[in-house]
Amino acid sequence: MKIIEKTQLSTNVRMDFPILQRKLVRNNDEIPLIYLDNAATTQKPQVVINRIAHFYTYQNANVHRAVHQLGEEATADYENARRLVQKFIGAAFPEEIVFTRGTTEALNMTAHVLGQFVKAGDTILISAMEHHSNLVPWQILAEKNKASLRFIPFDENGELILDDLFNNWDDSIKILSVTHGSNVFGTINPITEITRKAHEHGCIVVVDGAQSAPHLKIDVQEIGCDFYAVSGHKMCAPTGIGFLYGKKEWLEKLPPYQSGGEMIKSVWLESSIYNDIPYRFEAGTPNICGAIALGEAIQYLSKIGMAKIHEYERNLTNYALEKMQGIKGLKIYGNARNRSSVISFEMENIHPHDIAQILDHQGIAIRAGHHCAQPVMRQLKLSSLARVSFYFYNQFEEIDYLVKQLYKLREFFN
Ligand SMILES: Cc1ncc(COP(=O)(O)O)c(C=O)c1O
Repeated sequence: MKIIEKTQLSTNVRMDFPILQRKLVRNNDEIPLIYLDNAATTQKPQVVINRIAHFYTYQNANVHRAVHQLGEEATADYENARRLVQKFIGAAFPEEIVFTRGTTEALNMTAHVLGQFVKAGDTILISAMEHHSNLVPWQILAEKNKASLRFIPFDENGELILDDLFNNWDDSIKILSVTHGSNVFGTINPITEITRKAHEHGCIVVVDGAQSAPHLKIDVQEIGCDFYAVSGHKMCAPTGIGFLYGKKEWLEKLPPYQSGGEMIKSVWLESSIYNDIPYRFEAGTPNICGAIALGEAIQYLSKIGMAKIHEYERNLTNYALEKMQGIKGLKIYGNARNRSSVISFEMENIHPHDIAQILDHQGIAIRAGHHCAQPVMRQLKLSSLARVSFYFYNQFEEIDYLVKQLYKLREFFN
């Protein structure tokens, strides 16, 4: 048995999240909420909630257009949020950050604007472990441009099988789009190495960072990728905001995604001149308050420290893995050497939806389903899996309680 340090984060971060103080009513009793569905979305600290209220209470105005004080303040704070994101992921320039609704929109945008670089007969390479949002946009592009899709397989540990790919590189591959962190297996893919090898062949590299940026220190320059997509709501910010990082030299040569206000420099009846980056990719009124709140979330996370968050979550996950592995008939899917705080599992003779529902009766929020990764489920010959996913505000005691309830379930269904 491994000794796992039950180190706590130095600040009592739980107190920063009002929802984590909430009690749920079960059988006329109040019980604590144990929120273990963080891969779906994370909770919001009071500072982020306050920032949203402050914006709409005192600052609300549209950005980039007004000369009045409110408009100038909103613009300054929106652009400051862009610089906070830039710093958070180690981008070289603020204009490399395009605000989007989230990872899904960022990946759709990328697939759309890269269309001109994919010709008939070319190949788009993704992995077999992708979330639907890093699969369907490429299916659409491949179909439109008569290109083919190829998939990097994964092994029984949920790790990508890369040797064959890089030893026998196919020069028809023009784009590689892969997830940094798997939302099913919790695998953290060796994205820097993948990017370096793909770049040796002149291939464009796109990374889905939805499950990695909230948990790890990201440095896009160190990774070297061309595009990196992130959702704010999975890292303490509200829903409806996220971003696409794109290398300046790429964004500068790409066409707009959507069109309308803000993305133009000048417009005639017959034609238009498009704006500079990043505004060329931000048509219409953006989610101003969302971006500012994302900036607040980033400052909050940075104050705790991403390295500290990662270390704490690693201990918590190892602790949970060890405890869960002791439960008879419980099978964990994903055993990668480098992993995040996502654990997918099934229990013999108990449907994943029943696991989720019964745990909910005990106040424990987990997820069951195909996790927007139906091809992964098909390869595993499953229709669904139960999944727990932790964030830095989860505690070892919550894992103990989860494991106790799983043992009870095991006894009940025996
Ligand atoms: C790996 C991965 N990619 C992309 C997404 C899509 O993120 P969003 O729904 O925030 O756009 C998710 C969401 O769960 C995810 O886990």
